[in-house]
Amino acid sequence: MSEHRGRRPGPAGGPRTTAVQRVLDAHAEARRAALGRPLRVLDLGGGTGGTAVPLAVAGHELTVVDPSPDALFSLRRRAAERGVEDRVRALQGDADTVGDLVGADPAFDLVCLHGTLEVVDDPEAAVGAVAALLAPGGTFSLVVAQRLHAVLSHALAGRLERARAVLERPDGRWGEDDPAPRRFDEDAVVEMVRAHGLTPVHVQGVRVFADLVPSALLDSEADRTALAALEEAAAADTAHPLLGSLGSALHVLATRG
Ligand SMILES: C[S@@+](CC[C@H](N)C(=O)[O-])C[C@H]1O[C@@H](n2cnc3c(N)ncnc32)[C@H](O)[C@@H]1O
Repeated sequence: MSEHRGRRPGPAGGPRTTAVQRVLDAHAEARRAALGRPLRVLDLGGGTGGTAVPLAVAGHELTVVDPSPDALFSLRRRAAERGVEDRVRALQGDADTVGDLVGADPAFDLVCLHGTLEVVDDPEAAVGAVAALLAPGGTFSLVVAQRLHAVLSHALAGRLERARAVLERPDGRWGEDDPAPRRFDEDAVVEMVRAHGLTPVHVQGVRVFADLVPSALLDSEADRTALAALEEAAAADTAHPLLGSLGSALHVLATRG
C-alpha cells in the first residue's frame, strides 16, 4: 500500500511540498467531481494558509482553526490578496477545542492536519478529534515529520550524539532543546490512523534530499535546479521504497468508510 516518493522545499510538515500539493489537489478534484460540488475543508493548525488558501482559490470552502492570532491575521490577509476571503473562515482554537468550534455543522469532506501533529499535546486525541469531524467518505490528509530523515541529517552533519538520540528516544527528539516537539515513524502513524476508523489510501515520504545537502553546496541557480530535478525524480520513482522512508515528512491520505 505504501507509495514512497520524494519532493522539494518547505520544512518537514510545514508549507506544502510539491508532492503533497499535487496529491492533495488531485484528490480534491476527484472528490469534487464525485460529489458534484466544492468540498467542505477543515485545516486544523492551518497557520497562515499555505494549504488552505490554494484550496480556496480552487473553489473549495475552507475552515481554518489555529491557536495563533498572528497566523490567523496573516491567513485573512493572504486570503484577501487572492480574492477568496469569502471562502475562508478563520477560527481561533486548537486540537482540544476544534470539535466544539465547528460542532454545529461538523461534517467535512476533507480535513488537513499538516505539520501540526508534532506540536499538539496529545497526537492520538487530535487524530480522534479530526476523524470524528469527517463526513462518510471524507478524507484525512496528514503531514508529519519523519524520524529517520532527522537521524540521517544529524549524522551527515557530524552531530552523532544527536543522531543517536533521535533514533533511540520515543519522541524522536535529540534533546530538550530540540525545536521539534516530536517526530514520527511511518508504521506508528499508519496504525494511529487505522485505530480511528480511517483507511490509508496513500502513504508517501516527501522532501528526501533538500535538507541533507549542505546549503554551501547550493550556491548557484544551476545547483538549485538540479536539486529540484532530483526531488522530482525521487517523487516519480516507485521502484525504491526506501527513498520515501528517508523523506523529511510523511504524507498520509486516509478515508472514512
Ligand atoms: C508548522 S505550523 C504548520 C502550519 C500549516 N499547517 C502548514 O502546513 O503550513 C504548525 C501550526 O500548528 C499550530 N498549532 C500549535 N499548537 C496547536 C494545537 N494544539 N492545535 C492546533 N494547532 C496548533 C501553530 O499555531 C501553527 O500554525
